[in-house]
Amino acid sequence: MKKHILSILLAFSMLFQLRADEGMWPLTLLQKIQDPMQARGLKLSADDIYAINHASMKDAIVRLMTKQGRMFCTGEIISKEGLMLTNHHCGYGSIQELSSTTDNILKNGFWAANHEAERRANFNIGLLRKIQDVGDLVMNGISIKQDEATRSKAILAQINKTKESLVAALGEERNNYVVEIASFYNGNQYMAMFYEVYRDIRLVGVPPESVGKFGGETDNWRWPRHTCDFSMFRIYANASNKPADFTPSNKPFAPEHHLPISLSGMKTGDYAMIMGYPGRTTRYTYSEGIKYLGNKERPMRVQLRRDIMDVYEKYMKTNEGTRLMYSDRLAGIGNYWNKYNGEAHDLAKTGGLYDTRKAAELKFEQWVRENNKDTVYGDVTSLYDEVYRALNNYGLYPVYFQDGIGNSQAMISALGAKGLADALKLNAKDTAIAQGMLRNNEENFKEFDAVIEEEVLAVILKHLYEDLDPSLLPADLTAFIVKHHRNYKEAAKSLFAKSLFTNKARWAKFLAKPNAKRLESDLLYKITMGYLTKLRVDMKPIYDGISSKLERANRLFLSAQLEMLPAETAIAPDANGTMRLSYGTIKPYNARDAVFYSDFTTARGVLEKFKPSDFEFDAPDRLISLIRNKDYGQYADKDGELHTCFLSDNDITGGNSGSPVINANGALIGTAFDGNWEAISSDFAFLPEVQRTISLDVRYTLFIVDKLGGAKHLIDEMTLVYD
Ligand code: ARG
Repeated sequence: MKKHILSILLAFSMLFQLRADEGMWPLTLLQKIQDPMQARGLKLSADDIYAINHASMKDAIVRLMTKQGRMFCTGEIISKEGLMLTNHHCGYGSIQELSSTTDNILKNGFWAANHEAERRANFNIGLLRKIQDVGDLVMNGISIKQDEATRSKAILAQINKTKESLVAALGEERNNYVVEIASFYNGNQYMAMFYEVYRDIRLVGVPPESVGKFGGETDNWRWPRHTCDFSMFRIYANASNKPADFTPSNKPFAPEHHLPISLSGMKTGDYAMIMGYPGRTTRYTYSEGIKYLGNKERPMRVQLRRDIMDVYEKYMKTNEGTRLMYSDRLAGIGNYWNKYNGEAHDLAKTGGLYDTRKAAELKFEQWVRENNKDTVYGDVTSLYDEVYRALNNYGLYPVYFQDGIGNSQAMISALGAKGLADALKLNAKDTAIAQGMLRNNEENFKEFDAVIEEEVLAVILKHLYEDLDPSLLPADLTAFIVKHHRNYKEAAKSLFAKSLFTNKARWAKFLAKPNAKRLESDLLYKITMGYLTKLRVDMKPIYDGISSKLERANRLFLSAQLEMLPAETAIAPDANGTMRLSYGTIKPYNARDAVFYSDFTTARGVLEKFKPSDFEFDAPDRLISLIRNKDYGQYADKDGELHTCFLSDNDITGGNSGSPVINANGALIGTAFDGNWEAISSDFAFLPEVQRTISLDVRYTLFIVDKLGGAKHLIDEMTLVYD
């Protein structure tokens, strides 16, 4: 009998483990995965990681946010003086902004000799202070029978109301907080996240770009990897350790917890967990959606992005000033060009993900039939079919607003002038807005190279005209292209010669004496506004219809998945920008037939890839000689080599960049910075055989800080352990 129970338990726990290993787990579900985590080797309890009433590991994890509040990466605190570690590609924007051709810290690296030498960075960080289930408040009075539009409106209103009252309840503290209400399981649950936002962040150290971005776009999303993708910042606070705007007298922030750093390294099979802020996954995408994305949406975006990148690269390769100016843009477009390219290939593959999703949908439909759930779930399949039929016709238009219009600086400026035009039409003498824009003019054109922008505009016009359904295009655009006989270069040239948005002096002159008529007759303005009007006005009913159907289908489909689940099992919700934990182990993989990948790389690989003065594979002489002399100090592995990067089977996605990789004892062993090519479509499906997280070995990080950067004082500030 006992044995029988045991075997049931065992079978059950194996089933559990199978499900549980996939997933970016919300902290509120940690108790449910404590057993499988400990089975993988964790020596701590769920309570050590996240506790409501005492300091825990989660207090060392930070959320990187733009000054406008958009989250973009993860960081971790590694000293009691608020020293924070993240990726090089996360600090990139700040580092680029602090660089110039005469003080080129992007190229040369930077190490602050003391606190005074640290430089103001352009982002904020959030510390997660509280999680509150607000499902009852948000879904109060909502019923399944309501039509989706009414329901969304009611939910949105209740979200706003709830948020307002939560913020108000913070009293004095409220100006230091951002409260976000996030939907989990596609709108089946709602949680409020309270972030205390620190606004004074300073750059402490960064390796030269040839080290921090070694391998560039060629190695991006690829293994084996040798990128030392890190940068270091410090969080500052006022005298009471609370958030404050930048002022020289602010003090380094004293955290509740900082991560100790392990110098003991890791080996295959060791426990590894990652905590951070994964942005978004869509693991339950409908089969027709997989088809649409793989065959149409992704390939189109890949081509558009590639053509823009070609323009950037052509000029960046020959001029250091241009390279500095456009490096951040290129990296941003390139990162997802690379990823979408892989996704296009994976999602379109026969016998792949489409079939898996299709099988899950058939199972769902059968379950609905057998359990008489038709009244609740009966319309899911037909809703999805309608959605993807519509997206096939209209889906690219909004996407090109982002990847096309959104990548032309001139078009973005045109969009930004809408408020001015409206104000001038109301009152021709209202110059307040124009004055404000004039003050920002220098800043707005700071990273604007007219030659590049004109060529980019030609690329964008071409893709808009040739890729999109002509009946959707604004009439001004069509007429203009036809007039230029589809010579896009000429078309862009003529726009650049006359438009207000293509020349700093011309725009400044206009702003000094603005008038609505001139603005609204600007052809670039007309074309750009025409596009926006189509999207937001003419086609609004179409897109509203698509999103409410999709929302409804997604919510119901997931609610059914939860209902279908055996009692006591848990599935992790899709990533939604809230803090998650993923547990796993250090693990190699078989990439494809006859290709086996080890789970770590060494500095030998840096020498193998090194190409002097190459755009992507150059490296500082001093690094090369340190490696040649094997001058690794305490950062060498037991095998005598300097380990550079490593693999684990953790489940992460974009937004996790910069996340700590933590060992069984709670010490930092690395920083997650990428995913691998074989699992490039992991946002759509978790494939345990091949999905790996690529992390930077913290010993390589410290080696660079100490031996290349000569910043031993930073090492002294950290808590190093041999565990
Ligand atoms: N693939 C990495 C991520 O999405 C970003 C790498 C940035 N580097 C680059 N070459 N664009 O987290």
